[in-house]
Amino acid sequence: MKVYSIFRSGHFLVLLCLFTVEGKKSPTGKHICRKGLLSQVTENLYIKATSLKSSVPKDLIKNTRLLKKTTKVLFMTNCSVRDQVLSFYVKNVFSHLEVESEKLYVISAFQVLQENMNACLPCAPSTRLTPAVKNIKTTFLKLGEKGIYKAISELDILLPWIQAYIQTIL
Ligand SMILES: *[C@@H]1O[C@H](CO)[C@@H](O)[C@H](O)[C@H]1NC(C)=O
Repeated sequence: MKVYSIFRSGHFLVLLCLFTVEGKKSPTGKHICRKGLLSQVTENLYIKATSLKSSVPKDLIKNTRLLKKTTKVLFMTNCSVRDQVLSFYVKNVFSHLEVESEKLYVISAFQVLQENMNACLPCAPSTRLTPAVKNIKTTFLKLGEKGIYKAISELDILLPWIQAYIQTIL
């Protein structure tokens, strides 16, 4: 089982690198929309989320939620919110993971998602932090280290959002 999962993640990492290096951009310099890759990366992230959750302390704070139901609507409809939620995970959450290989894996996976989502639905980049993501960050920072555990546990919320969004563009 252990050997299998190591093989699997290693295999996936190689796949990711291949996809990121080769064919990242078309000859005109634009990113190409690869919907199949979006689904595949998300499916692999479900497996990864399970092992991440078991590698960090359990989230015991039940009266606070980072990814609220109201944010889901914005995530589905607003590309800035979508991109900023994914960036929040890369910069504020995954960057704190201690196991280097896990960190590399989830960060690359999220970056592949961001690049492909933007390629599939070009979006004017918004430099200003949206109020929805600002709220997530404020709550997250208040929780300190426990915010990281909560954010990891809320991958159970985020991955279905991502999957639901991908369904709308497939
Ligand atoms: C996304 O939300 C932000 C902040 O609420 C807003 O300024 C922006 O216009 C929205 N973008 C789209 C494409 O709806």
